[in-house]
Amino acid sequence: MTTAAVRLPAGIAHPFAPAGRVDPYPAYTWLRTHDPVHRDPMTGMWLVTGYADCTALLKDPAFSAAAGQRERAREDDLPVSMLTSDGTDHARLRAPGVRLVGPAATASIAEGLAHDADALLERAGEHGALSDAVDQLGTPLATAVLARLFGLREEQRAPFQQLARAVSVNLDPLAPPPLARLGRAAMGELTRYLDAHVDQALPSPLRDFAADGRLTRQEMLGVLGLAVVGGWQPLAESIGNALYWLLPRPEARAALRTADGEAAGTAMDELLRLEAPIPFTARVTVRDAELPGGRIPAGARVLAVLAAANRDPAVFADPDRPVWDRSPNPHLAFGGGPHFCLAARLVRQSGALLLSRLVRKFPAAALTDAEPRWAATLIPRRLTSLGVDLTGAQRPASRLPGAAAAHA
Ligand code: HEM
Repeated sequence: MTTAAVRLPAGIAHPFAPAGRVDPYPAYTWLRTHDPVHRDPMTGMWLVTGYADCTALLKDPAFSAAAGQRERAREDDLPVSMLTSDGTDHARLRAPGVRLVGPAATASIAEGLAHDADALLERAGEHGALSDAVDQLGTPLATAVLARLFGLREEQRAPFQQLARAVSVNLDPLAPPPLARLGRAAMGELTRYLDAHVDQALPSPLRDFAADGRLTRQEMLGVLGLAVVGGWQPLAESIGNALYWLLPRPEARAALRTADGEAAGTAMDELLRLEAPIPFTARVTVRDAELPGGRIPAGARVLAVLAAANRDPAVFADPDRPVWDRSPNPHLAFGGGPHFCLAARLVRQSGALLLSRLVRKFPAAALTDAEPRWAATLIPRRLTSLGVDLTGAQRPASRLPGAAAAHA
């Protein structure tokens, strides 16, 4: 059997077709089972869906992230950043980034962020029912995280959020050209905004990062821009994705109410595993490459399908269901290898912080949509909207994600 001859069976939607974008898991399961290193006849790309293959790929220098990102972004000039570089160049750009989003930076904003989370839950409580929890909880949380990291003043949050929303279009490789053009223009605007802001930032991780001195101004702005484009919307959407799985399960809500920070972080990891906001990442092979599941020739466009690897039964028992205390949980929602998300700890902590405070303040919170709909965007994986009744007074939705052994 040659790899090129393998096709998805009729009846299973291609993950990039409209139906497959809404529910890609049947295709992921089929590919992972039958052809984990798959040359996709529809796009000419290689889809790598097995866990062992994805982890090997992400560590292997034969797979270039720099070339992968250039390919993905088509003709536009991405700012230089760690995600658009490989090898020693990448290591040089990444090292100072730790000052912006590493463990010390995360610890330094924890108290302020807890204050922000309480304030936004207080505001949400005044509404009782939220028409869209991403918009009303996830988005302000993501803005608060970046505002704390970047030393923004209170009055700068709203204009910053508008810019962050505008540049987030750049995440979706299928954005229609007119929208993609707007996204690129917004990127220029964000870079100018950050350039003007850096020297006026409040004491913050950004100030430490800017004082590091190892990067040029342009490189520094590239890293900041990457944090906004790559971080803001995925973080916002991760809250909606998490509530989708969490709220219909009273036992999980109860456990999270009494969980300490560590256990809440473990639950957040499981939520990110189940519904990775960045479902895949792009690479290009710079030479022939060998993965456990097959060979890929030089010059190939490759997607490491993190969301498929995250449900690989060879690594995760009962992969389509939440196991709240799953440990270890070596999921790939933050990627792997040298480009592993620099903000993984920050994301895990911020999500855990908001979700555990939410279930404590609103123990009866419930989804109001029986069937929340997934958007047809490829990146990030997100819901079109998620109605939540914080009081639980409205009739709770009956659907329980993962209740059936989905797509076995
Ligand atoms: C739920 C939220 C997030 C998810 C799921 C996520 C996921 C990822 C993934 C999968 C990668 C690897 C990409 C690749 O290998 O091609 C990555 C890289 C990165 N992420 Fe995140 N991320 C999130 C939030 C953030 C935030 C909030 C920030 C910054 C404030 C951030 C900063 C970065 C940076 C700088 C990189 C590049 C690291 C490198 O190339 O060395 N991320 N992220």
